[in-house]
Amino acid sequence: MSRAVPLLDALADVGADRVRGGYSRHGFDRADHTLREWFTGEAEARGLDVDVDRNGNLWAWWGTPGPGAVVTGSHLDSVPGGGAFDGPLGVVSALAAVDVLRARGFVPAKPVALVVFAEEEGGRFGVPCLGSRLLVGTLDAEHARALRDPDGVTLAEAVRATGLDPATLGRDDESLARVGCFVELHVEQGRGLVDLGAPVGVAESILAHGRWRLTLHGEGNHAGATALADRADPMLPAASLVLAARRAAASVPGARATVGRLVPTPGGTNVIPSTVDAWLDARASDGPGTRRVVEDVVAAAREAAEAEGCTLSVREESYGGTVAFDAGLREVVSGALGGVPALPTGAGHDAGVLAARVPTAMLFVRNPTGVSHAPAEHAEADDCEAGVTALARVLAHLAGPSC
Ligand code: GLV
Ligand code: MN
Ligand code: MN
Repeated sequence: MSRAVPLLDALADVGADRVRGGYSRHGFDRADHTLREWFTGEAEARGLDVDVDRNGNLWAWWGTPGPGAVVTGSHLDSVPGGGAFDGPLGVVSALAAVDVLRARGFVPAKPVALVVFAEEEGGRFGVPCLGSRLLVGTLDAEHARALRDPDGVTLAEAVRATGLDPATLGRDDESLARVGCFVELHVEQGRGLVDLGAPVGVAESILAHGRWRLTLHGEGNHAGATALADRADPMLPAASLVLAARRAAASVPGARATVGRLVPTPGGTNVIPSTVDAWLDARASDGPGTRRVVEDVVAAAREAAEAEGCTLSVREESYGGTVAFDAGLREVVSGALGGVPALPTGAGHDAGVLAARVPTAMLFVRNPTGVSHAPAEHAEADDCEAGVTALARVLAHLAGPSC
């Protein structure tokens, strides 16, 4: 049994989604509030001091907050209908690693902090890694405050409801200056470690990736009374766009493109939609490859829109270039573990955002099926324990007297 498992089990009912299955836990919603309270309680029970930064990220301190801190953690929010491990595994492993080190009598020579980043998945406000992007300043605060969730609630309103002043959102050099290095443990999203026969590995790189909102504008009308020749139905170019996404990604080696969300307005079975919003998630090994996929999809969508008498508007909602994790820190982390495999990932992480400003590394825990962002996401208890042991070893090394 892993020390991480009972901690994860304590969260089993929080944000369980009875309609989609799995979990729907989104930034600053009720489930998120419960999770943040839970984390604060667990941290305080360990004698850690918890503070909330200007962007709603939670920090629990072992030692006096200050420069050179060794930071670990992840996020507690999920995609809609997500799994139990993406994010929470890194948070519970951080708590469990503190327990391991304490039981050994380890006293850190540097401050150690456990962090929970806000709205990593962008499941509510659309921008992934919201808390970490605001922290490092790659997301403009003014723009962020105006982001709206599907119910029309702005981020400013949502954070205010949790007691945080939205005016404080934005680049936070003071909080970032405390971070000496960041190590995020995460369930692997893919089968790399399965194929390598290893329970734990370190991350090498993250694909360039972004999100684009493509809105097709047509004419809302009656499904029975409108002759086919008289229609401007935006669902037709939306269908072309979805097929173009697969074609465009297949034309760039290693690229991926996904339309995971398609929203017709008003959304009635007997109604020709007036608009259809399609969100395109595109990723490739580099920025130009990613941009090429998006340009191809946009061109195909525009052509299909014109053929149906519709128009298209496009908005980039987020973008991040390829991340190559700090090679020096990766060597140190891998060395502390006696040598573990290094592997790339197609998934985005707060660690990828922080990597632009501080030395950052990631530990991956084997996922037996590779499935993620779905209720079937899993990690075996023994592998979770291997992750806790590895994280404790890495923290002991990085926060120890000789590092
Ligand atoms: C987050 O997990 C992402 O890769 O979108
Ligand atoms: Mn995720
Ligand atoms: Mn994650």
